[in-house]
Amino acid sequence: MELRFGPALSPPRGEITPPADKSLTHRALIFGALANSTSEIHNPLTGEDCRATRRILEMVGMRVEESGDVWRVQPATWTTPTEPVDCGNSGTTMRLLMGVFASRPMSVEFVGDASLSRRPMGRIGLPLKMMGAKVEGEKAPVRLTGGTLRGIDYLSPVASAQIKSAILLAGVRAEGETSVDEPEQSRDHTERLMEALGVPLTRCRNQISVQRAEWGGFEFRVPGDISSAAFALCLVAGSPGAQAVLRGVSVNPTRSGLLDVLAHMGASVTRENERAELGEPLADLVVSGPPGLKPFVIEGELVPRLIDEIPVLSVLATQAHGTSVVRGAAELRVKESDRIAQMAKGLRAMGASVDEFPDGMAIHGPVALRGATIDAHGDHRLAMSFAIAGLLSATGDTTIRGADSIATSYPGFVDDLRTLGVTWSEA
Ligand code: S3P
Repeated sequence: MELRFGPALSPPRGEITPPADKSLTHRALIFGALANSTSEIHNPLTGEDCRATRRILEMVGMRVEESGDVWRVQPATWTTPTEPVDCGNSGTTMRLLMGVFASRPMSVEFVGDASLSRRPMGRIGLPLKMMGAKVEGEKAPVRLTGGTLRGIDYLSPVASAQIKSAILLAGVRAEGETSVDEPEQSRDHTERLMEALGVPLTRCRNQISVQRAEWGGFEFRVPGDISSAAFALCLVAGSPGAQAVLRGVSVNPTRSGLLDVLAHMGASVTRENERAELGEPLADLVVSGPPGLKPFVIEGELVPRLIDEIPVLSVLATQAHGTSVVRGAAELRVKESDRIAQMAKGLRAMGASVDEFPDGMAIHGPVALRGATIDAHGDHRLAMSFAIAGLLSATGDTTIRGADSIATSYPGFVDDLRTLGVTWSEA
């Protein structure tokens, strides 16, 4: 599917409720499958990634009754799947479920689409093998045979919540204590949910330790996804005089690096009505676009706090007065696509000046972008980032090929742009 965006004819003004958080919906389903009684997930993300997690957990006996925007989840019975489990485009599905299945006496083959089949899975297989599981395959298809696990002390080479979560989910079913340490702190949703559900868990700097644990059913209203909100936030920030309200967005500090960068660039972002859901903070965000934007530097511990927002921030950087720099973000090369190479290529095609480094890029602004035809390479965040680039362009239409990938995380993306009053020529 193709989408076409011309330069925005009217700036964003209004309010939206961004879709539910993808990471939290995956985890709510997994924690519900592992609970020992019924759970209720309110406002789950219905995008394809989370559907993959749900479908696989249903293959192992989890039952879901849907009523309105509530999924009533009966725990899994852990029957062995009779066919390979298809994780589609979703790295979180494959990696977290490998951790979940590692403690079950079953043999499961994990498969995924072309993009997921290129991504590294050995980073999950290695610690799970140390715990006692049998794992074959560095990339999908991966065959995992679970069994009795023992706790380990694992020093992860990368700040990855997916690695950390797989180990912690295996750890709550292992003998003894399981610890995982990481070079910088990655998103801590798994830890927060475990704490809220009473799992004995200790945190010391970036090291998390868990013991064997079980938990009961829970009720959880999934907060909005800051990674989806990022598109509207950056569009507003890049549109002088624009203003928007984004309701119910997760502001978990391990995910909210984007808000710090936007404030540094000169946009005003305020939080209203701050609240929490099972230990996860959320707020309404009020953002407005300043007359001019300052460039940013993203490196070090900021990187995991906005890893999924770097594509759209690199679009915004084309409008800043000066050179913006991203370093220490080599992980972007192994996301749904090589996001460094693809952002550099697409932005250059739109007239931007971008230097590419192995671990990041430098974007020289400001530049009047011009429309171009962009291949999203099956990557939802690229498709939406280039949609924003098309709207922020000075001239020409931007055609995005492979825009169907948007449905993995933000099925209502175009509708939300319209709700914000954004219009563009669609000739
Ligand atoms: C996710 C963690 C991040 C992120 C991904 C979702 C998660 O990956 O990029 O979109 O739900 O744990 P890494 O933690 O592997 O960087």
